[in-house]
Amino acid sequence: MRTETGQVFHLSDYRPTDFAIETVSMTFRLAGADTEVVSQMTLRRRDGVPTDAPLVLDGDALQLVSLAIDNETAEGQRYEVTPDRLTIHDLPADGTFSVTVTTKLDPAANTQLMGLYRSNGVYCTQCEAEGFRRITYFLDRPDVLAVYTVRIEGDRSETPLLLSNGNPVEAGALDGNRHYAVWHDPHPKPSYLFALVAGDLGVVDDVFTTASGRSVDLKIYVEHGKEARAAYAMDALKRSMKWDEDVFGLEYDLDIFQIVAVSDFNMGAMENKGLNVFNDKYVLADPETATDADYANIEAIIAHEYFHNWTGNRITCRDWFQLCLKEGLTVYRDHEFSADMRSRPVKRIAEVRLLKAHQFPEDAGPLAHPPRPVTYSEINNFYTATVYEKGSEVVRMIATILGAEGFRKGMDLYFERHDGEAATIEDFVKSFEDATGTDLAQFAIWYHQAGTPTVSVSVNYDQRSDSLTVDLEQSVAATPGESAKKIMHIPLRFGLLLEDGSEAEPAEVSGARVDGDVIHLTERRQSVVFKSLGGRPVLSLNRGFSAPINLSFEQSSADLAHIAKHESDAFARWQALNEFAMRILLDAAKLSRDGRTVAVDPDLIAALIASASDETLEPAFRAQALSLPSEADIARELGSNIDPDAIKRGRDAVLAAVAQALKPVAEKLFDEMATPGLFSPDAISAGKRALRAVALSYLSIAEADPKRALGVFDEADNMTDMASALQILAHLFPGSAEATQALAAFEGRFGGDPLVIDKWLSIQAMAPGADTLDHVKGLMETRHFALSNPNRVRALIGAFASGNPTGFNREDGAGYGFLADQVLAIDARNPQLAARLLTSMRSWRSLEAGRREHARAALSRIAAAEGLSTDVSDIVKRTLA
Ligand code: ARG
Ligand code: ZN
Repeated sequence: MRTETGQVFHLSDYRPTDFAIETVSMTFRLAGADTEVVSQMTLRRRDGVPTDAPLVLDGDALQLVSLAIDNETAEGQRYEVTPDRLTIHDLPADGTFSVTVTTKLDPAANTQLMGLYRSNGVYCTQCEAEGFRRITYFLDRPDVLAVYTVRIEGDRSETPLLLSNGNPVEAGALDGNRHYAVWHDPHPKPSYLFALVAGDLGVVDDVFTTASGRSVDLKIYVEHGKEARAAYAMDALKRSMKWDEDVFGLEYDLDIFQIVAVSDFNMGAMENKGLNVFNDKYVLADPETATDADYANIEAIIAHEYFHNWTGNRITCRDWFQLCLKEGLTVYRDHEFSADMRSRPVKRIAEVRLLKAHQFPEDAGPLAHPPRPVTYSEINNFYTATVYEKGSEVVRMIATILGAEGFRKGMDLYFERHDGEAATIEDFVKSFEDATGTDLAQFAIWYHQAGTPTVSVSVNYDQRSDSLTVDLEQSVAATPGESAKKIMHIPLRFGLLLEDGSEAEPAEVSGARVDGDVIHLTERRQSVVFKSLGGRPVLSLNRGFSAPINLSFEQSSADLAHIAKHESDAFARWQALNEFAMRILLDAAKLSRDGRTVAVDPDLIAALIASASDETLEPAFRAQALSLPSEADIARELGSNIDPDAIKRGRDAVLAAVAQALKPVAEKLFDEMATPGLFSPDAISAGKRALRAVALSYLSIAEADPKRALGVFDEADNMTDMASALQILAHLFPGSAEATQALAAFEGRFGGDPLVIDKWLSIQAMAPGADTLDHVKGLMETRHFALSNPNRVRALIGAFASGNPTGFNREDGAGYGFLADQVLAIDARNPQLAARLLTSMRSWRSLEAGRREHARAALSRIAAAEGLSTDVSDIVKRTLA
């Protein structure tokens, strides 16, 4: 949050700072509301900078205590200070000099959770993107890299632990039951990677020996008593360290690596050098309290933050426009890690589901922006699905185009060239070009252009010449600020499946460039002709989701079923089935909107039954195959004039028909997929639990009876089974005695564990129907909810607004009014959280007219409110624009 409103930042305005900061030596005297921070910087005027140029340091709501230059108190006429800026004049023309800034902070009053704040009494920091300027006046931007030494002083009882980045150098006692510790980080870093933690926490210890034989101490700090719940995170950390060595040749570079779990955190986690700070939700897990999805998230996020050590920390970003340089690349790396740890196709299905659910709507709505934007007014609003997930897809396409070997060469060159630097997207792309001699100029448009491309496809098989012509055409709809779109390089993996399921190997290929199983679409319209195929093949296009596009391809249901049955690429099998189901669901939504009866194509049911009962397919895959597109997926495909109630009615009718037909198979799976014995979070066991849960849900629909789910709930010995049964009870049988009983039992058992209660809040918030709003309001009044804790807010209000299409989009607009009230209330204390919550309104223009007007009214009320943060005002303005 910035106090100067209306400021807009442009990439084209980039220029380096006038001064470099070489070292920073800080002392934190932690003392509650009287906490003092002394920061002594060694600076140097950069070559060519006018000798009268002042040093202008960033601040945010700071209180200056004193200022010294070369250890002498600065005279009043030498500087100007406001809470947001410190300007110092008459500094040396050359050579280094020191500036010592002393500020006073009240961490407990910091409700924004940016800068130095307290979570459950623990002092902790969050500095990305611009939190460091809430601690001290500084050149708070990612291209100013300095070596930090940090001394922390605190009360021995309140803060037995005193942690910062780098390696520990010294510790000792002070008067008055106080003590100190000194940390030194030899790696120059930008201020956003600074971290401090001080408090009383339990620790889990381990050691990792790097490939070159160095031993690294590993520590994970959690609330006392929760140490056992950090075991999985520790295991994931060691596997991540090993994987980065094996796959990218990257070793860890300090003597110690620390992770701290805190319970008040705006995001998932933060990659501060050597001292990652995590939302405790992504550290703590045991079978009784965590679901399989929680375990998978912990593994992925532990890996993500660890991988940032090279992609983000060793090579950082020149400016915040380059955010996806570190985020997109690091997401790609954590995706690959999870794919190697688990099932690659199942992981890919989950990624694509997520991309389509979050990034596609973002790219199709008012908040669309390219992965590398050129303008922003609040950088915190750019930690988006586009920067992260689409950013990762762009890196994946580079790997597809260059192949594994070329990709690795490019990565190696990137590290060789830019280690220790603040780099740009252009530097990154050039590393791949130079390492492999490939021209990626057209490809790089992916970084600079917003919107999801659509590729329209038609095929024509000529029996006489045994040749298949594939006509392709690309287009991108206009997005805010970008009306004319450039032609992109779209790599489309494909397969040609013959009637017996085998793959055709055409003797001749002409037209657009084809490399192996990749068609390179590089013009607006292009054709490919495959000859001598050995019969009419079915084209399976965009295997593995090689390009993040919308495919417009009128393939027959029979062809989709053929792909679902025979593709060698498991992801493509799922994709075809999903596409088939989507068509039926779209029809169902339209029919139910017109009050007509929904009929389900028996071929879809046959294809679903075939996947469900194919024992050569892993259970996790079968679970995905049986999970039909969600109400939100259907809404996205419809794109306009959306009536969430009609979508739900149509989808429910399809589910009912599928459930009836699937009953015998579901019954069998329900028995066979039980995982008795000791709980193991491994991917195979998790897949069985997922398949059993899908079977339970179909059986519950077919039987129209909550008893079976209640039985599973009562007998469950792990949170995965318990939570999925509870969800079935609360969503399919709302208000039933069984649902009420299970919800009460859950609350009774886990009432003292906020992270588990978050699941209970979310499940209730996502119960479909207009009545849920009042229920959510009621839950806000219970002891389980706190507007000050981001996890609670996301679990209840976030789940309601973004995970409950019929409840949130109530016909009378009350859901939108409620969200507006909450956004305004939260904005007063935590703008980042408020702005994030408000993005759930981004697709409001796609709603049918009545709801659309209610949504507009709620948004306009927010826009008109006084004292909005830059975060919320940026989102609301763009959403209404
Ligand atoms: N770099 C962190 C991660 O993705 C996210 C930090 C975002 N912080 C923020 N205030 N927007 O791992
Ligand atoms: Zn990240």
